[in-house]
Amino acid sequence: MCGIVAYIGGQNATPIVLGGLKKLEYRGYDSAGIAVLQNGKIEIRRDAGKIDHLETLITQEPLEGNLGIGHTRWATHGAPNMQNAHPHISSNGEIVIVHNGIVENYLSLREELSAEGAVFRSETDTETIVLLIEHYYAVTQDLLRAVQETLKRIKGAHGIVVMSSREPDKLVAARLGNAGGIAIGRGNGEMFIASDLPAIVEHTHDITFLDSEQIAVVQKDGLTLQTLAGTPIEPIWNHIPWDPVSAEKGRYRHFMQKEIHEQVRSLSDTMVGRIDFDDYRIMLPDLHLTADEAQHIRKIFITACGTAYHAGLVGKILIEQIAHIPVEVMVASEFRYLDPIIDEGTVVLAISQSGETADTLAAMEEGRRKGAKLWSIVNAIGSQAMRGADGSISMQVGPEIGVASTKAFTAPILDLYMLAVYLADLRGELTDEKRHELVQDLLKVPTLAQKTLAREGEVKKIAAKYKDIRNILYLGRGINMPIAYEGALKLKEISYIHAEGYPAGEMKHGPIALIDQELPVLVIAPKDKWYEKMISQIEQAKARGGKVITIATEGDTLIPELANEVMWIPETPWLLSPVITSIPLQLFAYHIATLLGLDVDQPRNLAKSVTVE
Ligand code: G6P
Repeated sequence: MCGIVAYIGGQNATPIVLGGLKKLEYRGYDSAGIAVLQNGKIEIRRDAGKIDHLETLITQEPLEGNLGIGHTRWATHGAPNMQNAHPHISSNGEIVIVHNGIVENYLSLREELSAEGAVFRSETDTETIVLLIEHYYAVTQDLLRAVQETLKRIKGAHGIVVMSSREPDKLVAARLGNAGGIAIGRGNGEMFIASDLPAIVEHTHDITFLDSEQIAVVQKDGLTLQTLAGTPIEPIWNHIPWDPVSAEKGRYRHFMQKEIHEQVRSLSDTMVGRIDFDDYRIMLPDLHLTADEAQHIRKIFITACGTAYHAGLVGKILIEQIAHIPVEVMVASEFRYLDPIIDEGTVVLAISQSGETADTLAAMEEGRRKGAKLWSIVNAIGSQAMRGADGSISMQVGPEIGVASTKAFTAPILDLYMLAVYLADLRGELTDEKRHELVQDLLKVPTLAQKTLAREGEVKKIAAKYKDIRNILYLGRGINMPIAYEGALKLKEISYIHAEGYPAGEMKHGPIALIDQELPVLVIAPKDKWYEKMISQIEQAKARGGKVITIATEGDTLIPELANEVMWIPETPWLLSPVITSIPLQLFAYHIATLLGLDVDQPRNLAKSVTVE
């Protein structure tokens, strides 16, 4: 969702802030803006539309100065237009703000400020914050104190960066609750602030993250940090190993295509440091788990949103099959409203690429409130879901930029598999032989992914045949049932074709009524224990005139006779097959969307990180 970038130092802030905003485009936005302190005066350029348009505005009316803030906005209060775009400025033109989050009490604050004579120039909730800061600045004559006072008045979760022409040597950044992160990067005589790391890793890898209720005064040579109440805090600096190149498209046409192909590497990367090759043991030290604690786990409650939720559904089968611990999976948006049954024997395990999805963080809070142990599987290093957990598993796949998640879907499946083996081992559930077999299977996955990706051309040809469909049904069973959901989600996200994922065994209880020549059915039918049943699904769909696309295991001679199209995968151990069957489905969705000429990396109405409920 909204993105924040800010700069203070010796260089011109404009290209740095604009460059950072471009790196955040993937998060989804509908307007963009920048404010720079130019010759002692705050100058703003902002409008609805993409950053290219903002750049044109800046070419027409250049901006230059050493202090700047920028924002990409995803409209919540008020339409995406120039007036509502950030940055928002105070009435006297001396204070300017960029903001992520929603001011829940903005209507009453707006009334209060209006009664005092304030004039609102936008429909946004954000403008109440800057007018409140202006109000408190008139009393305190101090930007930090004015921000502190203001934050005490606003409800909800927020990330803000503020600058003032009266205090040109600083930026003030603050975070309240879980409205997305604020990362601060340290350079040489310059500092960078961003809501998300890809915006600044090109400049620095030396990063500190604001926690909730923390305020930073950022000056070109460093920062001072304190709580909202004013208690000083020592910042913790992290070295972020991300290679800025991994946030670039390279030779690929889209980030999504690059990220699909990166899976050979990301599937290996997620295992790095986690396998002891002397005795084929899994090591997950960041879970901070003892054998005794592992014995006492009675239930694992997985919670996540979107694609991460589908990874969780696969995780349930992995953990139950391998570690024999009961697992429940619930979408995070429901979790805190359904009074889930949790006690101290329960682990709440959140899965999140961004580590900042508001519903997922709220589910974690609910788990904490009820006394559960909290774990997370997260990609964004230093994110709230990582820091707020008792133990975590980092996906280790580098930044994922495409809004439709791909490499951050398959890596957590491997992480869940490793977790299952690790728990089973700690609980004494595995013989040495079984553990060796499970770990050896795991090690095969990157090569199997590579073989599957090598067949991209065949999938593209199938995509070309089916690109004009309006509906499609995806069917899967057992461990590939969640892959039917995920395959359908990928297609609808980027091609806007209605796709429905369904448990294959349920087809006869309803969806079969839909099948005719107009509704293709995509059947995931690898050679596993559900194979015969999937063959019968294919026959039932064919009998009703439906076109059938399948995913089948190389060497299968029956499926090519029955199905209209086959996407081939190599023979894969069944517990790991979801990682491999999901690859042709990612490619299928990608090629349909590109053949339709759609914006694959930034599909309409979607945001990469959903930081509001
Ligand atoms: C958004 C994204 C999805 C993602 C979901 C959960 O809806 O568009 O691709 O799966 O959020 O995101 P998370 O960062 O928590 O995995």
